[in-house]
Amino acid sequence: MMAVMTRAKASVREIDHIDPDERMAAVTTTLPQAPTALRIGPYPVDPPVVLAPMAGITNRAFRRLCREFGSATSIYVCEMITARAVVERNEKTLHMMSFDADEHPRSMQLYGVDPKTLGEAVRIIVGEGWADHIDLNLGCPVRKVTKLGGGSALPYKRRLFANIVREMVAAAEPAGVPVTFKFRVGIDDDHHTYLDTGRIAEAEGAAAVALHARTAAQLYSGAADWSAIARLKETVTTIPVLGNGDIFTADDALRMMSETGCDGVVVGRGCLGRPWLFAELSAALRGEPIPDGPTLGRVGEILVRHATLLTEHDGEDKAMRDIRKHMAWYLMGFPVGSQLRRSFATVSKLSQIEDLVGQLDPTVPFPTDALGPRGRQGSPQTKVVLPEGWLDDPEDDTVPAAADVMHSGG
Ligand SMILES: Cc1cc2nc3c(=O)[nH]c(=O)nc-3n(C[C@H](O)[C@H](O)[C@H](O)COP(=O)(O)O)c2cc1C
Repeated sequence: MMAVMTRAKASVREIDHIDPDERMAAVTTTLPQAPTALRIGPYPVDPPVVLAPMAGITNRAFRRLCREFGSATSIYVCEMITARAVVERNEKTLHMMSFDADEHPRSMQLYGVDPKTLGEAVRIIVGEGWADHIDLNLGCPVRKVTKLGGGSALPYKRRLFANIVREMVAAAEPAGVPVTFKFRVGIDDDHHTYLDTGRIAEAEGAAAVALHARTAAQLYSGAADWSAIARLKETVTTIPVLGNGDIFTADDALRMMSETGCDGVVVGRGCLGRPWLFAELSAALRGEPIPDGPTLGRVGEILVRHATLLTEHDGEDKAMRDIRKHMAWYLMGFPVGSQLRRSFATVSKLSQIEDLVGQLDPTVPFPTDALGPRGRQGSPQTKVVLPEGWLDDPEDDTVPAAADVMHSGG
């Protein structure tokens, strides 16, 4: 038994502010046993934590920030990259494909629907040494993608999916680069595909699979069904199975591992405006005391660091447009007036952020009500829009060519 103390006193950097009753309530989640060492291909992943690919979020700056808090041997996946854009050597895409010199493994997620294009993109990536790990996005639920047969619509086509896995793995194998697949439970409750997707990926040479335990119809609404992760783990037995969905605290990660038996956790929205979650996850999974959340002063420092890293990579203009969407997440739950919040959300200069941070009360402790869900939630879609006749023949391996271009993840 590995007992894990949560919210125990830890970091010297943080102020210990949690009241004793709350501390007692948050103590001890147990794992039936210490997690077995996770490996993805040749890479040990310790602790078994993966930063989920998030389009528009997990760029080089944000990954660095998360790594500064988390373990150097966890995995931090880059923003999704469109395979066709790699093949066409789109300039903006190549810029998005850059990694820090000390990032290892360099983990890249691709989007695509055509086995040939995906194979070609993988050949370029491994042949020219752009990345050390490649993941494929099969979870995007947005209408403009599913209506063309891409993203979360694709795994319904079993043979097409098998062709994709085969091509990608064959292209990556000579370089020893592992290929993994991230997917949802299915299209909707009448069309679950995840067990077939897992079996096919395993049979065709995937190094690991990850399940976001929602259907495409659910989008980000309701609760992820972790029992599906447990079923996938029972079904896929020779490669690691990672669980994803609704990890907002370190305790959630322990619960997911304990309830599903998954080999590791993939964390998305929980770290929005909260990159220090990776320090908490690392501590929890190593059975160490969890550091307390940062004061508002420390959050301000982290926000400035984030904006500085973005500026270094993208220039000030783009960096400021990008950082604005993170402001509400960083300030969530803190007592900050609406006018100051508005100023944060409309910044156009790094120096402005520094001034605004100077106006925050640095002593305010981390608000415990900011520990819950954050980021996209919303309502389910009533119907997942698919190409005409899409559900008629799961064995049809025709490539939905129009779905080859995509600009946003999910
Ligand atoms: C802003 C945003 C962008 C996302 N982009 C991608 C993406 O490009 N590729 C992908 O596989 N999943 C993407 N996702 C889904 C996440 O990787 C993850 O599966 C999902 O958020 C559920 O995990 P969570 O509950 O920990 O957030 C995105 C999610 C969000 C919130």
